Amino acid sequence: MHHPVEHDDLHAELARAAAMLRPADRVAVLTGAGISAESGLATFRGAGGLWEGHRVEDVATPWAFERSPEMVWRFYNARRAGLRAAQPNPGHLALVRLEERLGEGFALVTQNVDGLHRTAGSRHVLEIHGSLARVRCVGCGEVTHRSTEEPLPDLPRCHCGALLRPDVVWFHEPLPADVWAAAERAALACQCFLVVGTSAIVYPAAELIPLARSKGAKVIEVNLTRTPASTYADVSLCGPAGQILPELVSQLDGERGQGPPSPGGAHGCHHP
Ligand code: OAD
Repeated sequence: MHHPVEHDDLHAELARAAAMLRPADRVAVLTGAGISAESGLATFRGAGGLWEGHRVEDVATPWAFERSPEMVWRFYNARRAGLRAAQPNPGHLALVRLEERLGEGFALVTQNVDGLHRTAGSRHVLEIHGSLARVRCVGCGEVTHRSTEEPLPDLPRCHCGALLRPDVVWFHEPLPADVWAAAERAALACQCFLVVGTSAIVYPAAELIPLARSKGAKVIEVNLTRTPASTYADVSLCGPAGQILPELVSQLDGERGQGPPSPGGAHGCHHP
């Protein structure tokens, strides 16, 4: 895929980002669907995105489920099935290496429900939009783990007889309070905040970016394109996360030449 970015620019921006990340001992990361794109999973927005083939109101709202649980489950069962062939990519794995370097100082906040960060080996993962590998009973409220390897019925039911729903956050629903509180703490405490593969337009997730920034964190964005998060970014690294993140983390360990940070320089990303 061709990206309109000068290689030299990207090289300099990577060095600047590494210089920001290297001294930080508390780092928080916010990921979105873009980090899983190279694992073969569709993002939500843009050409071929999930929201192109489905109306959000039909499959990802509480009233969609009330009106037509069959349609909602068809959508989520297809996404669960799609996960069976999906493996973490080098972007996920680079974040595992970053956590190994930082230990307790690392937190990974993800909007993704695909579970690939945990499969890759990330430990401190805050899934603020829930997980495709869990179901929740709309009657008794019980939450159970249901591996995505296991097909679910078209309309799964709880042992209490009520319908099960995916344990994911739909539009107009609150985020899980404890997970969200931990995400906010991580954003407030970090010295460097990495924003990877998210369009940064869904709230409150996107709020974490200015929140981190307000406490003086350096913000590094990795995306194919500019987003509203770019406004807050000290460095925008333009390219696929599966290539940029391994390169960035390698530079921290000095595996590559650590050129001097370049002064300023144009952002590599084009406007969409
Ligand atoms: P989006 O589909 O909105 O955005 C994906 C972002 O990833 C875009 O900005 C792309 O440019 C970027 N991208 C695509 N491929 C990439 C790659 N290989 N490397 C780096 N970046 C890449 O997905 P999210 O931002 O995750 O919420 O969407 C946020 C929320 O909206 C989701 O959690 C979901 C959705 O509706 C709920 O369902 C509640």
